Amino acid sequence: MIRAYRPDDLVALRRVCLLTGRAGGDATGQWSSDDLLPDVFLEPYVTLEPSTAWVVEQDARPVGYLVAAFDTAAFADNWRTRWSPVFAARHPRIADDPQEQWLRDYGYNPDWLLGPQAEAYPAHLHIDLMPAAQGSGWGRGLMRELGRAAVAAGVPGIHLGMARENLAALAFYRRLGFRELPTAGDALMLGIDPEALSWR
Ligand SMILES: CC(C)(COP(=O)(O)OP(=O)(O)OC[C@H]1O[C@@H](n2cnc3c(N)ncnc32)[C@H](O)[C@@H]1OP(=O)(O)O)[C@@H](O)C(=O)NCCC(=O)NCCS
Repeated sequence: MIRAYRPDDLVALRRVCLLTGRAGGDATGQWSSDDLLPDVFLEPYVTLEPSTAWVVEQDARPVGYLVAAFDTAAFADNWRTRWSPVFAARHPRIADDPQEQWLRDYGYNPDWLLGPQAEAYPAHLHIDLMPAAQGSGWGRGLMRELGRAAVAAGVPGIHLGMARENLAALAFYRRLGFRELPTAGDALMLGIDPEALSWR
């Protein structure tokens, strides 16, 4: 079933984030700390925007989630004041690992969330399901929840950024009607009208 996020889901969902964080695959050991990915792509969302976080529960266990921020600019402000200090306390700056500096920078400073896409498509999301929960319609169901809530909130557009090499996720987003948005960065940006998601 799909239900609203609860704080006691956090530990299990952090694990989902890690196990799907390498372009859809297991990111365990990829970075110097396995906490970095959930500290950037999951926990700030459920902490700052818990009302737009949904969970897939199977056999009484959380196996997937969709987290979103409806107003990305306001969310970035909130992140700066409320999440950056938490992140910095967990992950002190290191000077000698340029490979992962970008990921730490994402935690310290949420400017990466802002861009032209956030103007026409002010909401954004992250979605991840454990491998055993994939391919059964849960992703579509989570997106429907998001679409309905976004329509009710009057959100005009939803975007997401993704690794270009995650072809399975790209096929999923395209199937649901997401379209590519112009971007100057490395990530692929996709966008959709919430109305289109709400009935899918
Ligand atoms: C991407 C993800 C969220 C999709 O959720 P899902 O539950 O597996 O997808 P669904 O079963 O709801 O599929 C919805 C539709 O997309 C299609 N689809 C899903 N994955 C697809 C794929 N790899 N290739 C082609 N079509 C695909 C399905 O066929 C389905 O269409 P249909 O209902 O018309 O048959 C999920 O697989 C996942 O979490 N993957 C790992 C983490 C990840 O990559 N997250 C995204 C990071 S950007």
